[in-house]
Amino acid sequence: MGGLIPDSFIEELLGRVDIVEVIERRVPLKKAGREYQARCPFHDEKTPSFTVSPQKQFYHCFGCGAHGSAIGFMMNYEGLEFVDAVEELARLAGLQVPRDTAAAAPRPSAGLYELLAEAGDWYQAQLKQSPQAIQYLKQRGLSGEVAARFGVGYAPAGWDGLMRQLGTDDQRLKLLQRAGMLSQGKGGTYDKFRDRIMFPIHDRRGRIIAFGGRALADDGPKYLNSPETELFHKGRELYGLYLARKSQAKLEQILVVEGYMDVVALAQFGFGNCVATLGTATTGDHAELLFRAADEAIYCFDGDQAGRKAAWRALEATLPRLREGRQARFLFLPEGEDPDSLVRRQGSEAFQALLADAQPLSEYFFDQLTGAVDMSSIDGRARLVGQAKPHLEQIPPGVFRDMMFSRLESLARHKVDDQAAGRPPRELRSAASRAPGTPRTAMRLALAHLVQNPSLASGARNMDVFEGCDLPGFEIYRELVDFCAKSPNMTTAQLLELWHDHPAQSHLNKLATWDLQGDEENLAREFRDAVTGLELQWIESRMEKMPKIVDLGPEDRQQLLALQQRRQQLIGELHGGEP
Ligand code: UTP
Ligand code: MN
Repeated sequence: MGGLIPDSFIEELLGRVDIVEVIERRVPLKKAGREYQARCPFHDEKTPSFTVSPQKQFYHCFGCGAHGSAIGFMMNYEGLEFVDAVEELARLAGLQVPRDTAAAAPRPSAGLYELLAEAGDWYQAQLKQSPQAIQYLKQRGLSGEVAARFGVGYAPAGWDGLMRQLGTDDQRLKLLQRAGMLSQGKGGTYDKFRDRIMFPIHDRRGRIIAFGGRALADDGPKYLNSPETELFHKGRELYGLYLARKSQAKLEQILVVEGYMDVVALAQFGFGNCVATLGTATTGDHAELLFRAADEAIYCFDGDQAGRKAAWRALEATLPRLREGRQARFLFLPEGEDPDSLVRRQGSEAFQALLADAQPLSEYFFDQLTGAVDMSSIDGRARLVGQAKPHLEQIPPGVFRDMMFSRLESLARHKVDDQAAGRPPRELRSAASRAPGTPRTAMRLALAHLVQNPSLASGARNMDVFEGCDLPGFEIYRELVDFCAKSPNMTTAQLLELWHDHPAQSHLNKLATWDLQGDEENLAREFRDAVTGLELQWIESRMEKMPKIVDLGPEDRQQLLALQQRRQQLIGELHGGEP
């Protein structure tokens, strides 16, 4: 591990995986001509504008503009970093990711995952050897099966069990430190987690990135979590998400509870679709993750003041992400109960009934706000509007937003202006504003054809005629022709990933999404015409720069004549003549 991933591997990987297969596993695709179509997973829509091209190995949504290679798709859809997306695809393709160790500093996380996995194994082994810890879990009603499923373990009492086991050399000790597994005191370094039940926290790929530890005894903080590390960011992770998603491809609902024990207990009682925030408020990132896993999120919090506060924060994080088709509901448990205690005492059916009864977000929202003002007075109703409006403005334009505004109007008994009413949703607006499109100049067309079909480079005109050419974009064109001529069988996706760091990369990405229609022959002719157009521009730009005809010497006159002749010839070609 460690090091940059060599370009040659990215190229090989994209040659090996099929983007259609990668996407199909996540989004059902329908064949439509040479491409595949679906309703876009990145924005809400009724009619499919998401297309996947097996030739280009590229996806593109005409609605929201999302596009990219299989790697880009994994990053976008699964929320992975580049390197993780590459590793995930490599795993599917059965390839080993080589590292260009000479070329770069080691990847920051190199070795950390492995070490945390070892720690997880060690804690699990320690649990087996601790009658006291086993007794505790039994008394809490945990089955051995569910404990194993969640990788529950035990960090023994004592100061340095883990350190001695895993910190066998300096480098590993440093890694333990970076992974947040050690604490620093006056007397030196020691294990952070001691005499605690250990809950491993997995990332979306199932790798351990942190731990939560529950105290067995009543002294000290009840729960201790790993600190923020380079692998672990509380605001972006949800406990249990990996297992919940593993249990079913697309969940109907996802339940958000407050504690580790709640997730595990509910799983034991058949609710495998539960996650917990990690001792933090629900963030916008959390809400986005939830809706990627399921169309409906149910926040299930304690009925106490802390739970109510947590629910309101969850509502605020959710509103901006309530696009069409997404819903959220709220369930408050009776005082003194949490999901763990409730499901154990009353069973899964009772819990299921509570879930079915959970309050829709709209109802919860207006209940909260109307409860806090005097609805019988004008002042109170005006305050309601003042408090509700900024929240409702967070909701993406659409039916739900409109309905929330009309509900507010009827409660306030007064007209409430929604600035965005009647405007199409943002994604459609941007699509519409793009509709006239970037003008299809000869240069852009030539580049677009090359990006979309690198094998065309062989049909590019002899570069000699462009000697000295300073047309805007020409350097990119020349570079692209060279590049494509060397690897004519490359797909669009491969090309763009290899040009990842090129200054023109985002420009080429846009051109890759241009809709170029027609069969192979047509496309080749269009490309030739674009190149002809380029040469024409170059000739005309040179002619403009020549001195007035009366001032020309004989040599210049001859050159001008040649340019004029060539210009006529090119115009003829463009009007249907053969080259
Ligand atoms: P709770 O206090 O509700 O704990 O905290 P719980 O999950 O019901 O635990 P048990 O049933 O007593 O074992 C809910 C969550 O808040 C975070 C933890 O993530 C916990 O699961 N928490 C709580 C902490 O991070 N630190 C604490 O000291 C307490
Ligand atoms: Mn509890």
